[in-house]
Amino acid sequence: MNVAKTIEDIRRLVGEARGAGKSVGFVPTLGGMHEGHFSLIKAAREACDFVVVSIFVNPTQFGPGEDLASYPRTPEADLRTCEQLGVDAVFVPAAEVMYGSGCLTEVSVRQLSETLCGARRAGHFTGVCTVVAKLFNIVTADKAFFGAKDYQQCVVVRRMVRDLNFPIEIVVCPTVRESDGLAMSTRNAYLTDAQRTQGTALYEALQMGADLIRTSHPPAREVVAAIRDYLSAHASEGQIEYVQIVDPDLLCDVETTDAPVLIALAVRIGSARLIDNTLVDAEESIG
Ligand code: PAJ
Repeated sequence: MNVAKTIEDIRRLVGEARGAGKSVGFVPTLGGMHEGHFSLIKAAREACDFVVVSIFVNPTQFGPGEDLASYPRTPEADLRTCEQLGVDAVFVPAAEVMYGSGCLTEVSVRQLSETLCGARRAGHFTGVCTVVAKLFNIVTADKAFFGAKDYQQCVVVRRMVRDLNFPIEIVVCPTVRESDGLAMSTRNAYLTDAQRTQGTALYEALQMGADLIRTSHPPAREVVAAIRDYLSAHASEGQIEYVQIVDPDLLCDVETTDAPVLIALAVRIGSARLIDNTLVDAEESIG
């Protein structure tokens, strides 16, 4: 496995693979890897001949007062696992490599970045889109793999790819969960044991909301209220940032729940900001 620290090095490695007629798959990450990241790497390994993973804690997507400094960094373990999973090249640029020459350009996807997490994390998705656009241009992959855990990020990146004509396919992979349902996240490391137990309530609340929708299609505000009640009862240390039921493509709030909808929520437990979501498909309600 090759580890490239410079743009020239990763371009050369990908260029050689392309020269040999190989398809290229790309998994961008912040590192601090867990089974969620591994599932994306495995999907890339299955779909593509040459797999590139990037590990870069992108400063521009962290807001003031967020956890940039304390974000878990586990580079040795990440590289070991990448090697075990058969990754061909890992791109580990320093911040100077990505932004050292100055970056006056930003990529923003309006509207889709302004709801859900974007409404609470000013500039977050501009930071994500700008770095993802840079990485796409550096790595020049055929396919990039993203996790449904960050559903809004998938929608925003897909739209950027469409609007700016990036020649890349975005593949969205399912959320990987702990055995009790908690969505895997690098930030779960911030939870104490007691908080970790309460974290399960996010998934349970989503399941409860999805069941309500499937069985009786209540107005969205009733489902939101039921989810909020569940979280208050089962995650006493949790502070709800939002619970929303939105159109899965437009990410705007819906009033009724008889078409496919996305239930998305963000809850702070201690110093961890946890997000999760579930897609409730209209077709599921038929059976
Ligand atoms: P990061 O949080 O490291 O996540 C990297 C990828 O792993 C994302 O596509 C994310 O959705 C996916 N992922 C995280 N937890 C997952 C889980 N439990 N199941 C499935 N997939 C999961 O997302 C970012 O990094 C950054 O914003 C990035 C795209 C790298 C841009 O800096």
